Amino acid sequence: MPKTSPPPPMTPYLTVLLLFTTISATAAATEYKNHTVGGKSGWFFNSTTNTPATNYSSWASTQIFNLGDYLIFNTNSNQSVILTYNNTVYLNCTADDSDNGTFIYSSGTFNQTLTIPVPLTIVGLNYFFSDTSDGVQCQHGLAFEIQVQRGIGLPPSLNQPPPPPYKEPPGPDSAESPTVTIVEEPKNGALVKRADVRVVVYGLCVVMVLLQFL
Ligand SMILES: *[C@@H]1O[C@H](CO)[C@@H](O)[C@H](O)[C@H]1NC(C)=O
Ligand SMILES: *[C@@H]1O[C@H](CO)[C@@H](O)[C@H](O)[C@H]1NC(C)=O
Ligand SMILES: *[C@@H]1O[C@H](CO)[C@@H](O)[C@H](O)[C@H]1NC(C)=O
Ligand SMILES: *[C@@H]1O[C@H](CO)[C@@H](O)[C@H](O)[C@H]1NC(C)=O
Ligand SMILES: *[C@@H]1O[C@H](CO)[C@@H](O)[C@H](O)[C@H]1NC(C)=O
Ligand SMILES: *[C@@H]1O[C@H](CO)[C@@H](O)[C@H](O)[C@H]1NC(C)=O
Ligand SMILES: *[C@@H]1O[C@H](CO)[C@@H](O)[C@H](O)[C@H]1NC(C)=O
Ligand SMILES: *[C@@H]1O[C@H](CO)[C@@H](O)[C@H](O)[C@H]1NC(C)=O
Repeated sequence: MPKTSPPPPMTPYLTVLLLFTTISATAAATEYKNHTVGGKSGWFFNSTTNTPATNYSSWASTQIFNLGDYLIFNTNSNQSVILTYNNTVYLNCTADDSDNGTFIYSSGTFNQTLTIPVPLTIVGLNYFFSDTSDGVQCQHGLAFEIQVQRGIGLPPSLNQPPPPPYKEPPGPDSAESPTVTIVEEPKNGALVKRADVRVVVYGLCVVMVLLQFL
């Protein structure tokens, strides 16, 4: 958000842009949710009894998941966190590095407590499991699937996350949209410079789409 300053003369473009950023920032502050996986039980597996700390499918069924939400895994390095969009990988309980729809958030190499935040960036089925102990933890219930809904959409901060990469499907203007030479009016340069560039790009795309219908 730009800091308040005496309003300089604004083009209609910038007026729409500022209105848009105000609305989206307000919504983002109130609508995204963090889900602590397993609640108080955390993300643990007892290798003596071969049982997960709780029923993660039951836990997931109590939640509503939207784009931009985070899953928070409270765990330690005896468990891993794998996110996949590939049902074959999920059912096999084996993380496959070569599959571009599978992301490894941690693996059991250090003896330490971990808090692992995982952003939800793709609508539809998202699968989570631990691949530790050659898939035994996953086979015995350290795994769950969720249905992610669109909600209010991704915040700009997650639009190009490392990892996982997220890309909007290309629209009719896709040849032009990557260009970031938006600020061509020197008079308003100082104003735009203070705005979050990602929000500006996002806002501009909306303006370009709107202009098509005028
Ligand atoms: C695993 O379960 C056994 C038997 O219930 C229990 O004695 C042990 O403390 C548990 N281990 C952990 C790490 O919770
Ligand atoms: C976990 O809960 C689901 C329902 O939420 C149930 O279908 C499943 O059988 C449970 N798993 C175990 C191991 O109890
Ligand atoms: C899912 O993973 C399997 C096994 O790695 C692979 O053969 C398959 O191509 C993947 N499917 C998709 C849609 O990426
Ligand atoms: C399925 O898991 C087994 C080990 O549990 C592994 O050998 C095999 O390569 C996996 N298959 C795929 C398609 O990832
Ligand atoms: C994986 O790659 C294939 C083809 O390269 C692509 O169609 C698919 O969207 C990619 N999946 C993800 C989750 O990035
Ligand atoms: C792992 O950490 C626990 C507690 O911090 C400690 O008791 C245990 O000895 C450690 N194990 C290894 C293999 O370092
Ligand atoms: C991991 O598991 C091993 C064996 O079950 C146990 O000795 C160790 O304390 C565990 N590490 C942590 C960090 O809990
Ligand atoms: C949710 O988790 C993310 C990642 O750890 C963090 O940046 C964000 O501040 C958290 N949001 C809330 C409302 O706790």
